[in-house]
Amino acid sequence: MVKAVVLGAAGGIGQPLSLLLKLNNTITELALYDIVNSPGVAADLSHINTPAKVTGYLPPNDGLKIALTNAHLIVIPAGVPRKPGMTRDDLFKINAGIVRDLATNIAKYSPNAYVLIISNPVNSTVPIVVEILKKHGVFDAKKVFGVTTLDVVRASTFTSSVSGANPQEVRVPVVGGHSGVTIIPLLSQIAPSYNFSQEDIEALTKRIQFGGDEVVKAKDGAGSATLSMAQAGARFASSILNATVSGEAGIIEPSYVHLDADSVGGDQVKNTVDGLDYFSSNVELGKNGIEKIHPLGDLSEYEKKLLEAAIPELRANINKGVSFVAESK
Ligand code: NAI
Repeated sequence: MVKAVVLGAAGGIGQPLSLLLKLNNTITELALYDIVNSPGVAADLSHINTPAKVTGYLPPNDGLKIALTNAHLIVIPAGVPRKPGMTRDDLFKINAGIVRDLATNIAKYSPNAYVLIISNPVNSTVPIVVEILKKHGVFDAKKVFGVTTLDVVRASTFTSSVSGANPQEVRVPVVGGHSGVTIIPLLSQIAPSYNFSQEDIEALTKRIQFGGDEVVKAKDGAGSATLSMAQAGARFASSILNATVSGEAGIIEPSYVHLDADSVGGDQVKNTVDGLDYFSSNVELGKNGIEKIHPLGDLSEYEKKLLEAAIPELRANINKGVSFVAESK
């Protein structure tokens, strides 16, 4: 039995993400939770002829508890998205409380699940989830992930538009965090390798860092990336399932994770990022979650500058999440 849960399943990301998870044959049960409309989304998806049994839950009658019980994997796209002119940090006020309360229920009802956090600002919501799980004594650093896959997906697409490569075959490690200057694409490590001009590097870096703004602007008040995010979230969930359920070895995906997991290489990254407790780096997945956090590798002079610029903002974002939980009753 492999139960996947989506918290915020009726939203712009939640619906297409739930559809893509319904198409994943490893999942046998798909529980959809939201404060509105989740039974409708569940009924609709339940007619698709794939193995997963789909159920929908609302808050009354212990909906969240039932949705979470026996979960293998939980994806969280609950919360408000950006409107034009907003940064991801502007969402903190509303989303921090939503994520805190969901994490409290995860700690109680599914403490062993893999938790994938999409809700923004990811740089702060991941520390919030970790602090709540720690408070309940159930934190496992190998099982909590900030989903930065959309940055990786965008990097493959945008670089291919310049190099002419097949975007599906291109891999760019995107490290750091998930907002503006904290997003650091390591174009010097692109595979297959390609020598971009410095002008292209700078333009591509900016586009990858602020790619989300293109969507927010085009949607003109109707939200942020939902369809590409759903695909990215489903890809990351599928990587977790392939590693933890199917036992596939050697899967590597960048993800924003807690770095205190000394046994898995977090300490090595931590030393190169000025002691930050969270950072996105290439994460190798295994049957128990994070198998190894890979070091950042050799950085170009330009990438070193990007890292320098990212660290203070990341530190502030992390501290904001940690303090929020410390100050919550
Ligand atoms: P949306 O507003 O369309 O959907 C959010 C859903 O969350 C709604 O259905 C709402 O009812 C639900 N919700 C609100 N409070 C809840 C609670 N307490 N429990 C369960 N569900 C709750 O927003 P959208 O576009 O789906 O975005 C969701 C989040 O994902 C936003 O915070 C957005 O910034 C973030 N995002 C993250 C990305 C990433 O790369 N990590 C990319 C794009 C968006």
